[in-house]
Amino acid sequence: MKKIVVLVSGNGSNLQSIIDSCQQNRINGSISAVFSNNADAYGLKRAEQTYIPAHFIDPKGYADRTRYDIALLKAIDQYQPDLVVLAGYMRILSPDFVRHYHGRLLNIHPSLLPKYPGLHTHQKAIANGDKEHGTSIHFVTEELDGGPIILQAKVPIFDGDKEEDVIGRVQTQEHNIYPLVINWFLNGRLAMEGNTAIMDGKVLPPQGYASE
Ligand code: GAR
Repeated sequence: MKKIVVLVSGNGSNLQSIIDSCQQNRINGSISAVFSNNADAYGLKRAEQTYIPAHFIDPKGYADRTRYDIALLKAIDQYQPDLVVLAGYMRILSPDFVRHYHGRLLNIHPSLLPKYPGLHTHQKAIANGDKEHGTSIHFVTEELDGGPIILQAKVPIFDGDKEEDVIGRVQTQEHNIYPLVINWFLNGRLAMEGNTAIMDGKVLPPQGYASE
């Protein structure tokens, strides 16, 4: 059975969709552990409710990001994961951490990358009058929100939408596509080579997989 470790900082609704997909055999693997940098992350509770080991590692206990990430990495590696999944993990990762998990570290970001890296993406899309927004799943590289894109999902933005409306629409899509991509990876269909994502042996286009 392939092993997944998930990192969360908050609500963990994406974690929940991964837990549910593992239980329903839509993901060919299981979650070995969940880690958080935030003691109050509801994602930790979601893990505990399904008897998944849940760990809070307090950033205050470490002098800097590098030392924190080394401790995190050592704790994660106790579980020997095939894949590390960032699911609303809101802490920047050190280059050493990213290099250690090269090719087996995924992130989901709430925008149609390369548009709107960073924070407050939904607000920015509304403020710019965009008619669509979305989410991107990508391999993590040292460039923040910049690694090769695997899959995106688009949602409409309607006149009068508030931030919560767009967040809700984006998250519905995230809950559908993250388990799918995780399953592709665990089934050996997906890989990162250089700075590109490869699916079924073919280089994916810059915006990721598009079904024909
Ligand atoms: C998700 O929408 C995810 O795309 C975003 O945080 C949310 C977490 O929700 N991630 C980032 O902004 C990373 N830059 P969740 O805790 O309910 O899964």
